Amino acid sequence: MRQREQWTSKIGFVLAAAGSAIGLGAIWKFPYMAGTNGGSVFVLLFIICTLAIGLPILLAEFVIGRRGQHDAVTSLKKLAPGKPWFFIGWMGLLSSFILLSFYSVVGGWILSYLARALFFRLDVADYGGLFNAIIANPGEVLIAQAVFMIMTIWIVQSGIRGGIERASRWMMPLLFIFFIVLAIRSLTLEGAMEGVRFLFVPDWSYLTGKTFLLALGQAFFSLSVGVTAMMTYASYLPKEEKLGQSAFNVSILNIFISLLAGIVIFPAVFALGQSPAEGPGLIFVVLPAIFNEIPFGGFFLILFFILLLFATLTSSISMLEIVVSTGIQKKLERRKTAAWVFGLLIFIVGIPSALSFGVLSDVKLPGGTFFDFADILTSRIGLPVGALLISIFAGFVLSTAETDDELRMKPFLNRAWKFIVRFIAPLAIIIIFIASFID
Ligand code: PHE
Repeated sequence: MRQREQWTSKIGFVLAAAGSAIGLGAIWKFPYMAGTNGGSVFVLLFIICTLAIGLPILLAEFVIGRRGQHDAVTSLKKLAPGKPWFFIGWMGLLSSFILLSFYSVVGGWILSYLARALFFRLDVADYGGLFNAIIANPGEVLIAQAVFMIMTIWIVQSGIRGGIERASRWMMPLLFIFFIVLAIRSLTLEGAMEGVRFLFVPDWSYLTGKTFLLALGQAFFSLSVGVTAMMTYASYLPKEEKLGQSAFNVSILNIFISLLAGIVIFPAVFALGQSPAEGPGLIFVVLPAIFNEIPFGGFFLILFFILLLFATLTSSISMLEIVVSTGIQKKLERRKTAAWVFGLLIFIVGIPSALSFGVLSDVKLPGGTFFDFADILTSRIGLPVGALLISIFAGFVLSTAETDDELRMKPFLNRAWKFIVRFIAPLAIIIIFIASFID
């Protein structure tokens, strides 16, 4: 049997973990969730949830993953022999499966924009009409989603190494630079300040249990926490890597990009007289509008969507990676087949989500369309429950000697982390959960 792969460089893991985290969560979902949930209060809760709950549990996933050195299920079995904790791994597989089924729909939208911009010259002026034309066209959304899944499968089947690590190194920084330029353009539009106020001046009437749960779900979603994705990535790590530092960097970077996305989107939303509560189409409607205000906007739009596609792929591969690595467990030679089989299944399960904005828009499930339902099932249930169990596992099942050996931070930090994953994080998740039902 082949030896298990490891990351090719020290920075490889940080890039991969950041790549998994930074994606549609920060860039697409954060602005539209903030937009539909009152702006500033959601932003504030999101930051609190990320730092106080998301970050410690991210670190817990790192600790478990590296200690286990296997796919999530095998690692959990190994660390708690004869106990049912490995169940967390199967839950993570299920959550990632559903996540990717609708994530790939949005990935497909990006491809649609790209293809149209490249081959038909996008009419950047008619941004609203363009989005509606795309999402309502069943053939186009399905083909785009399929192509996105094929790209994801392609990368996953060839293992963790290769071009991705290398490409991340310059694609991600380029995306940041782009975002900063866009933020400046957005902030200098006339009437932009109202957007800034929307993002940063709290309207406390939105402070409800439901907003809290949505912000918590957003924190987990955008950190890739609760589905054992980060556990799986950390299992490819050598012992030297400093886990605490990595978890901290990924969390801060994620907050930074989310806020930046907000600062790009909302000033423009208000300046251009659009609605912040547009929903999942928000960035697709607003971004082209901002590019329209920039010299060579059409060209930069293409470049931007290529970078966004890349950020999205570095996240989608981590979702498929969990499904594949858990599905094949130790049978490495089945990796290729598994990637294609699971990829195809995920595509099929995602079809109703893809059609949720067109032919299936009238089909109502709990919480809305198929797309909404898949999102709720994961962001409000799968991820928080997974995170809760991971926190308890790291806090109570692993011994302090074991966790200290992995953490190797300053003693007071080790102790603080242990206290948070034992008590603070689980209690917070449970309370937020209950509060959201009371509303
Ligand atoms: N964090 C990713 C994003 O923000 C989504 C993701 C969730 C990836 C869970 C893997 C696991 O786009």
